[in-house]
Amino acid sequence: MNKHDALSIVETHLTKPRFEHTVRVAETAVRLAQIYNVSSEKAELASIFHDYCKYRSLDEMKRIIQTTYLPKDLLLYHHELWHGPVASIMIEQEYGIKDDAIQSAVYCHTTGRANMSDLELIIFVADYIEPGRSFPGLDEVRDMATQDLVKAAWMVSRNTINYLTEKKNRIYPDTFHAYNDLTRLLNGGNKFE
Ligand SMILES: [Fe+2]
Ligand SMILES: [Fe+2]
Repeated sequence: MNKHDALSIVETHLTKPRFEHTVRVAETAVRLAQIYNVSSEKAELASIFHDYCKYRSLDEMKRIIQTTYLPKDLLLYHHELWHGPVASIMIEQEYGIKDDAIQSAVYCHTTGRANMSDLELIIFVADYIEPGRSFPGLDEVRDMATQDLVKAAWMVSRNTINYLTEKKNRIYPDTFHAYNDLTRLLNGGNKFE
């Protein structure tokens, strides 16, 4: 699917600000893909669809989680986490996007997980640093994103965990798994060991 078709599809499912966020995530992800030698086409498509299901009804997302292979424990955590895993399935069902690399990057863009691929790391980081966002500590992550993708992703997962604990929110296990695995990599561990 080309960029134009993908954008026209998601535009009808998103609010204007969310669509503009999506365009900025795609631009950011393509830039990172070029730096880290990852397929720009996959980075572009994954980022265009990453928030595709953001505005599906809770009932529909719940039904998809209950009736597919998605982990049921998602239902025990905040519904804000559901749209990534749900979109990874819906882009295949509704548009035939059957590509493990793209689908898994869409899947884990909110929580991260252990053993993330470079494409997954790029979408995870691009969603966080896109130029429309602004909050304390973000510039540090933006600078790191062009130098060390793993370190930037580590900062994203650390900041996310800090933010969630400060708000006294529960944290989905994959978010901890991402943090632990990225910490291991930063301390000299090998990928996929
Ligand atoms: Fe999202
Ligand atoms: Fe997003």
